[in-house]
Amino acid sequence: MSRIVYVNGDYLPEDEAKISIFDRGFLMADGVYEVTSVLDGKLVDFDGHLARLERSLSELDMAKPEAFDDLLEIHRSLVAQNDVVEGMVYLQVTRGAPNDRDFVFPDPDETKPTLVLFTQNKPGLADNPAARTGIKVIAIDDIRWGRRDIKTVQLLFPSMGKMMAKAAGKDDAWLVEDGMVTEGTSNNAYIVKGGKIITRNLSTDILHGITRAAVLRFAREAQMEVEERPFSIDEAQAADEAFITSASTFVFPVVEVDGATIGAGTPGPVAARLREIYLEESRKSAI
Ligand code: PDD
Repeated sequence: MSRIVYVNGDYLPEDEAKISIFDRGFLMADGVYEVTSVLDGKLVDFDGHLARLERSLSELDMAKPEAFDDLLEIHRSLVAQNDVVEGMVYLQVTRGAPNDRDFVFPDPDETKPTLVLFTQNKPGLADNPAARTGIKVIAIDDIRWGRRDIKTVQLLFPSMGKMMAKAAGKDDAWLVEDGMVTEGTSNNAYIVKGGKIITRNLSTDILHGITRAAVLRFAREAQMEVEERPFSIDEAQAADEAFITSASTFVFPVVEVDGATIGAGTPGPVAARLREIYLEESRKSAI
């Protein structure tokens, strides 16, 4: 069934939606995005995603799309029109389409941002078998640019990282810079040692995950100890547990890091508990 998508003010069947070949998202990866999950037909952590979008736009001097204040309504309308009960809403804003290719940013009074949204229907999102089996990750060098806190559409290297993992028969990759794990290709990375949850501190080195913020808040509320600092692959391999978080996975246990089995090789109790709390609280607060 063809989806209804949103492009610059219009709701259209997906095969009728069009973007200019001069769009800077297409030519320069000059765009930012958000992925918001949907549970029970409602949006999870919407305010967090909207706030991060606003920050990404501002850090890149990109104008807000005219419909910025209508984004909640647009998300809800797409979820309803496409009957999404569990899944995701993808949103992308680019610096728009001047009538040519030029490295210099176009005048924002003449070239308006492009706003695109579409849904991804994923029945069973909250009951993903990977949450029960855990995933296996490889370690690769993090060669991305220095502003990973901005959620840009420059996803070629993360995409290559996923392909490297696939070629190695694994599920994903953790990125390593100066001997320390930054994050996963499309998720934040954590280890657990002696009951303590360890994850890299926020900086320009990683994306400030919306799921990360919620999971750490719930962990602290549940009296779990949290330490925000970098960790190495060696430390991860010696950890009791490991896991990842993102809007599309929520919390997934990691049972193997670069060839080494973590703990008993099965999902650990901390990751399982955090996933349970996250899903429960998210369902309650979804809008
Ligand atoms: N990825 N780190 C990176 C590099 C990411 O791409 C993502 C999200 C995260 C987790 O952020 P959040 O909890 O806000 O989803 C961390 C999305 C899901 C994606 O690209 O599909």
